[in-house]
Amino acid sequence: MARTWSPDSWHGLVAEQQPAWPDAGDLDRALKQIGSLPPLVFAGEARSLQSALGQVAAGNAFLLQAGDCAESFEEFSANNIREKLRVILQMAVVLTYSLGVPVVTVGRMAGQFAKPRSQPFERVGDTDIPSFRGHIVNDPSPTDAARRPDPERLVQAYHQSASTLNLLRAFTKGGFAHLNRVHAWTQEFIESSPEGQRYQALATEIENALAFMRACGIDTENNPALHQVDVFTSHEALILGYEEALTRRDSLTGDWYDCSAHMLWIGERTRQLDGAHVEFLRGVGNPIGCKIGPAATPEFVLELCQMLNPARIPGRLTLISRMGADNVEDKLRPLLRAVHDSGHPVVWACDPMHGNTFTSTTGRKTRHLDHVVAEIAGFVRAHRAEHTWPGGIHVELTGDDVTECLGGSHALSDEDLDDRYQTVCDPRLNGRQSVDLAFRVAELIRSNLN
Ligand code: PEP
Ligand code: CO
Repeated sequence: MARTWSPDSWHGLVAEQQPAWPDAGDLDRALKQIGSLPPLVFAGEARSLQSALGQVAAGNAFLLQAGDCAESFEEFSANNIREKLRVILQMAVVLTYSLGVPVVTVGRMAGQFAKPRSQPFERVGDTDIPSFRGHIVNDPSPTDAARRPDPERLVQAYHQSASTLNLLRAFTKGGFAHLNRVHAWTQEFIESSPEGQRYQALATEIENALAFMRACGIDTENNPALHQVDVFTSHEALILGYEEALTRRDSLTGDWYDCSAHMLWIGERTRQLDGAHVEFLRGVGNPIGCKIGPAATPEFVLELCQMLNPARIPGRLTLISRMGADNVEDKLRPLLRAVHDSGHPVVWACDPMHGNTFTSTTGRKTRHLDHVVAEIAGFVRAHRAEHTWPGGIHVELTGDDVTECLGGSHALSDEDLDDRYQTVCDPRLNGRQSVDLAFRVAELIRSNLN
C-alpha cells in the first residue's frame, strides 16, 4: 500500500544539507510569512511543462535547461535577467532550427539560490566558519557573522524570484521573444566571434523563412507561436522548509504543487531513497528532476523511478546525468538499459558541468569547454548504443562576458580567469561559449540520428 504523503511528511526523515538556522522562532516566522504569500507559479503551468517534457521522453522534443549556478542578491537587475534570457533564446533557436524538433526551455532562474556544499565548514586563517550556502541562506563574505544563516533571506529570495519571474513573463510574452527579432538577441561581444557570425547566418535564414511565409499569405505578426515562447522556471529543491511553505493545493484537481517553480530537482548530495528530499518531492505534482552521478547503480535508479513516478507519467521524471567526460559512456549505458527495460518513461538530460570541475593553475575553480562538449558527446554515444533518446542538456551559463570557464573560440586560458570571474558559486559558460555549445550539441545529436 502506498504510504500517505503530506507537505510536512518529510519532517521525520533525515534532510541532508539544511542550514543550521540559529533561531527556530525566526525561521518559523519567515516560513509562515512565505506561506501566506501568493504562489509564484500555477499548477496548470506545471502541468503544461510536464506534458511538454512527455514529448521529450517520447523522443519528439529536446530539453534545454540553463541558467545560473546560483542566483545572486547583489547582481540582480533587469539587464542581468535580459542578457541571460537572450543567450537562452539564442541557444533554443539554434537547437530548434538545427534539430527540427520543439525545444522545451527551462531556466535555472527565479529561485535557484540554495547551494549544497561538500564541506559544512571552510577554513579561513586559523578558524572554521560555516560554508556559504547561497544568498537564500547566508552571505559569501569570509567572516563568521556573514556566514550566519539568516531566515529573512528566505523571504528576500521569494521576492527576488517573484520579480525575476515577472520580468521573464514580460520578455517572453511581450514581444522581445518574437522570432522576427532573432538578430537582436545577439549581444555585442558575441557578434564578431565565429559563433556569433554563425548565429547571424542562421538568424538570416529564419528571417528569410518568415518572409517566405508572409509572401504565402501567412500572418507571421499575430501568430502566438512566432512571437511568444514559454520559458519555465526550475531550481534545486534544497531548503525543504521554503519549498513546503510554497506548496499549495490546486483548486482544480485537489493535488499538491510546489508553487516555487515549475520544475524542481533533487541534487546529487540529497537523493537518498529514504531521505527527506525524495519524500517531499514524491508528493508534489510538478515535473521533477534528479541528478545522477557516477556512483548511481541501475538498482538505485529503478527504485528512484518507482518512488518518484509510480504512475509512470511521461514527463514527470527527468534524470540528469552528471558523470564527468571520462566516465559518462560506461557509467550511463547500464542505467539507460535498465530504465528502458523497466518501461519507465523518463527524460534523460546531460549536465556536462558538475562532473568536470577542476582547479586551474591559478587557483580558480573552473571547467573547460572541451570537457563539457566531450561529456555531451559521450552522452549521445551512450544513447545511440542503447537506442534511447538523448533528451536534453542542463547547463550553467550567464549572458555576460565573464571569464570563468576555459576554452571556446577565444581560447580562454588559466591566466584569463582573473579578468571577469564573477560567479557566486560554480564557473559558468559565457554568452559566446553558450552559443558555441548549442551549435556543437545540435551537430552531435544530428550525427547520432544519421
Ligand atoms: C548544481 O546543479 O548546481 C549542483 C550542485 O549539482 P549536483 O547536485 O549535480 O552536484
Ligand atoms: Co553548480
